[in-house]
Amino acid sequence: MFSVAIDGPAGAGKSTIARSAATQLGFIYVDTGALYRAVGLHCIRSGISAEDTQAVADCLEKITVELAFKGTEQRVFLCGEDISDDIRSEAVSMMASNVSKLPVVRQLLLGLQRDIASKNNVIMDGRDIGTVVLPNADVKIFLTASPESRAKRRTLQLEQKGETADYDIILEDIKKRDYNDSHREIAPLKPAEGGIIVDTTELTLEQSIKKITEIISGRIE
Ligand code: DC
Repeated sequence: MFSVAIDGPAGAGKSTIARSAATQLGFIYVDTGALYRAVGLHCIRSGISAEDTQAVADCLEKITVELAFKGTEQRVFLCGEDISDDIRSEAVSMMASNVSKLPVVRQLLLGLQRDIASKNNVIMDGRDIGTVVLPNADVKIFLTASPESRAKRRTLQLEQKGETADYDIILEDIKKRDYNDSHREIAPLKPAEGGIIVDTTELTLEQSIKKITEIISGRIE
């Protein structure tokens, strides 16, 4: 099996770029953030605080989190319910970042991610794919961009969907999540050894997709 790990901070364009590259290459695209979001959503729905490690650990024994693939589209299920459309709010983003600090959560999701990569050609995006989940991935990419450009893109995205978006709040959230994700003790966000760092601050989406696809295609040959 061929595996590509794409890690990087929130809003660097990982999902759009990885999805497009996966479609071009005929790989499945695995968005691992959706798994942490599923756990985050469950905690929000159940009124469980991420600080209450024991309560989170207890609830993990009662829930199931699964991924399914329809063609190249990923859906995520929480206890059998398709929650793919319920995990994209800012509240779930922050909760996912908070619960992702807990070893018990990371441990639960690790096996699931490795299992998918052992059975499929994958482009997997997340924070620790090249460092922890698939340290032997065939290609490891660290995709980044300045916080300001990521906040600008996110603001635009929300506005295009007709939602209200406040650039300053979004920038603040992005910086908070960056700090959270890269300062946690376990599996912090950082470039993998032997990985390629791609900064998309000055690149358009098309240029970023082209660059990533070329890097991967070069390795396949
Ligand atoms: O990629 P995303 O924004 O959907 O991820 C949501 C949160 O999940 C992110 O802030 C940190 C966590 N996460 C993680 O810790 N490890 C991953 N491989 C993917 C996501």
